[in-house]
Amino acid sequence: MSRTRLEILQWYALLGGALAWTAEHVLGYFVSDGGCSDRVGHAALWGSMLTGFGVAAVAAAQVAAITVYRATRSVGHDAPGPEGRLRFFAVAALVGNVLFLMLVSLDGLGSLVHLPCAQAASTPRRGAALYAANCASCHGLNGRGVPTPTPGANGVTGQGPPLRNVGARAADFYLRTGYMPLANAHDQPTRRHVVFTEPEIRSLIGYVASLGPGPAIPTPRPGRVAAGQRLFTDHCAGCHQAVAQGGYVTGARVPPLTDATDRQIAEAVRIGPYLMPRFSTKAITRGELNDIVAYVDYTKHPDDRGGWAIGHLGPWPEGAVTWLLAAAALVAICTLLGRRLRA
Ligand code: HEC
Ligand code: HEC
Repeated sequence: MSRTRLEILQWYALLGGALAWTAEHVLGYFVSDGGCSDRVGHAALWGSMLTGFGVAAVAAAQVAAITVYRATRSVGHDAPGPEGRLRFFAVAALVGNVLFLMLVSLDGLGSLVHLPCAQAASTPRRGAALYAANCASCHGLNGRGVPTPTPGANGVTGQGPPLRNVGARAADFYLRTGYMPLANAHDQPTRRHVVFTEPEIRSLIGYVASLGPGPAIPTPRPGRVAAGQRLFTDHCAGCHQAVAQGGYVTGARVPPLTDATDRQIAEAVRIGPYLMPRFSTKAITRGELNDIVAYVDYTKHPDDRGGWAIGHLGPWPEGAVTWLLAAAALVAICTLLGRRLRA
């Protein structure tokens, strides 16, 4: 076996698994995660982060093993010939790659678990059944509403308002924020753990949208932060505070906007959930809404001092990324040092 081949093998032993993992993960993301709920996204994220750590640990172990091997070799006792070296690297490659394979298949299994989320088609029958079981007691059969004499704080008379023309937009907002189903019709809806799976949410949205013509789900594109800040100060800060941290108004808790997605911001402005006023396209144009979305996004993480934010996912993925980069750098340094010593 020639030295070039040996080195290729060595590089493969060190980095092959990490590259395979990265490829698998990127592919898996497009196959399974597209359009999935936040909840599924988080599960996938944790899975990948753990896998990332595993990959980094295995790579580091291999770097350490090879460094030690080189060090003992340079001392010069009983230096193994090309055969011995080959065997060493072959074993290192094998062990490393079996470990990588295990990690990669774990991650792959994770992707399979949320495959249904990508394939989910909204089935109207399923939506109707879910609606009957979870929503009809308050919103009435076919979304007609349930009239009762005591109005809630929001002035809604009855258990729940009719859903005839609220459309996919309101259903998407109220379901994905966990606002619905409410436990008590007179409580303020608050952001909660979403009880439905992604396919169930899609079915319910499909069902509510089928009750009558209504607005579709918006797709905002964040615009200009500075303009957004002015608009936010004028229209929203009175309740949500200048940097969207929330607070209280008479009769309601005003939530911080840290967890609201771009889409949910665009939806809330037009819907006006609970005591929040609804803003028409005359009060806030579509372009202005995009600016507001950009400003709210900005308040979530105003500055990235220190450089690379890696999706603002926190210290875990940052650590994983650092590990991967550090492992690659270590390998490069080891190889260079090895060459120098040999030369
Ligand atoms: C009169 C006070 C008031 C004003 C003005 C107001 N909001 Fe709200 N907003 C609320 C309240 C109260 C809620 C909680 C609704 C609920 O619990 O159903 C809310 C909820 C929201 C939510 C959902 C947040 C979540 O995570 O649950 C978003 C997004 C939002 N508002 C954005 C805006 C924007 C953008 C503006 C300005 C264009 C604005 N609001 C103006 C009172 C207000
Ligand atoms: C305990 C009673 C209750 C249950 C159960 C309930 N809702 Fe509601 N729903 C309400 C009330 C009250 C409101 C008005 C809240 C507000 O003003 O923000 C509401 C508002 C809504 C809205 C917004 C309507 C609008 O005018 O914009 C939608 C959409 C909705 N609910 C869907 C659902 C769905 C889907 C379910 C079943 C998964 C459900 N709700 C279960 C009481 C209920």
